[in-house]
Amino acid sequence: MSAPGSAPIGIDSIAISVPRGYVELAELAAARGVPPDKYEKGLLVTRMAIAAADDDPVTLAANAARRALATSARRADEIGYCVVGTETAVDHSKPVASYLHGLLGLPPRCRVFEAKHACFGATAGLLGATEWLASGAGRGRAALVVATDIARYELGSAGEPTQGAGAVAMVIAERPRLVELEVGHSGSYARDVHDFWRPLHRKEALVDGKFSVQCYLDALAGAYAAWRETVPAGAPLARSLYHVPYGKMAVKAHRQRRILDGLDEAAADATFAGEVGASLRFSMEIGNIYTGSLYLALASLLDAEGGALEGRRIGMFSYGSGCGAEFFAGRVVPGAGAVAAGMKLGAPLAEGARRKLSIPEYEAIRRAEEALAPGAPGVAALAENGSVRFRGVDAAERRQYLAVP
Ligand code: HMG
Repeated sequence: MSAPGSAPIGIDSIAISVPRGYVELAELAAARGVPPDKYEKGLLVTRMAIAAADDDPVTLAANAARRALATSARRADEIGYCVVGTETAVDHSKPVASYLHGLLGLPPRCRVFEAKHACFGATAGLLGATEWLASGAGRGRAALVVATDIARYELGSAGEPTQGAGAVAMVIAERPRLVELEVGHSGSYARDVHDFWRPLHRKEALVDGKFSVQCYLDALAGAYAAWRETVPAGAPLARSLYHVPYGKMAVKAHRQRRILDGLDEAAADATFAGEVGASLRFSMEIGNIYTGSLYLALASLLDAEGGALEGRRIGMFSYGSGCGAEFFAGRVVPGAGAVAAGMKLGAPLAEGARRKLSIPEYEAIRRAEEALAPGAPGVAALAENGSVRFRGVDAAERRQYLAVP
């Protein structure tokens, strides 16, 4: 389905970026004296990506965006709208999107901004980008939507095994090659709650964990009901993608959604492996990346099943604490399987692309971050071909990056 009177609009390319270090959650469980099954079966988490001193939300965003542009049918000079969704921004004023604009060499005639609403920020950006295109304001140009975050909770807290770090970038355009979005047909839900928050002076989030799970499920029920009222009856959803703070949350979400469809609990759970399973592979390797989590699920799904899903409809649920949520849908475009295969979406997670950190190494990274005084220089550049790295701050506290071509 496309916007009335215009070409179909949607996702032309997608790419992910992750830090090079990760922690095995079985090792974290042992270090914290927790039975490994609690993490692996209770939370359904396997590994979490850990940002190093020369990674930050800007470098993660830039590295994902470089890949998304390199594999898009659209060029950087055709981007007229660049939005970064993040809840772990690097400055109270200057948006991550401005750094990105410079690092990518985007044109000056471009709407550039950052969107914040906990994990929902990138979805707000994506919906805005599709509506910008549908309005005709794009005049043939394309949009770049990037989600980037580093999720941190206190060491030893219940949230610790649900951390992660990474970015997802998408080029949004008319006549997309991956997924056409049903522009103008989505179900929204919002409520003022304190389920998860991060005061301005803190690096780690604070959370009312069990309450946050209930808020997420309430928001799903509300957004899904609104979506079903808004959208004319269409093809059934072949797959469902969710915001995935940890795998078990997707299990609970899908159970609830399918019960709302009229299935009993056992029948609802029986659909999980087929309708959701393939979308969790990347997040099991990375953890919660906040704004990018839903789009990581999409990348994982297209990587695993892009070809099989051509012409089929997929549902998407985005949740941001605080809280705001949206349920919307799209259709995998014919030919998307080959396009997605050519993008090598899982390459940043391939054997050899990352290094396992021991628990003492991970804790040392976190303690070094905590010890760093605000505005203190970070690290010297670690040059690496084809990547953008954080170099530290200069005497006026301006952040410096090294962009290796
Ligand atoms: P917890 O204290 O680990 O909870 O906190 P638990 O003791 O209830 O255990 C979790 C599950 O493990 C339970 O299963 C246990 O039964 C099971 P469930 O009942 O849920 O199906 N379990 C075991 N299973 C096998 N063997 C064992 C065993 N022991 C226990 N031995 C919590 C869990 C998620 C609350 C915590 O990790 C947390 O606070 N995480 C951060 C908050 C979060 O992710 N909330 C999710 C919804 S809010 C959201 O998604 C937004 C967010 O992304 C932020 C944003 O929007 O910006 C977070």
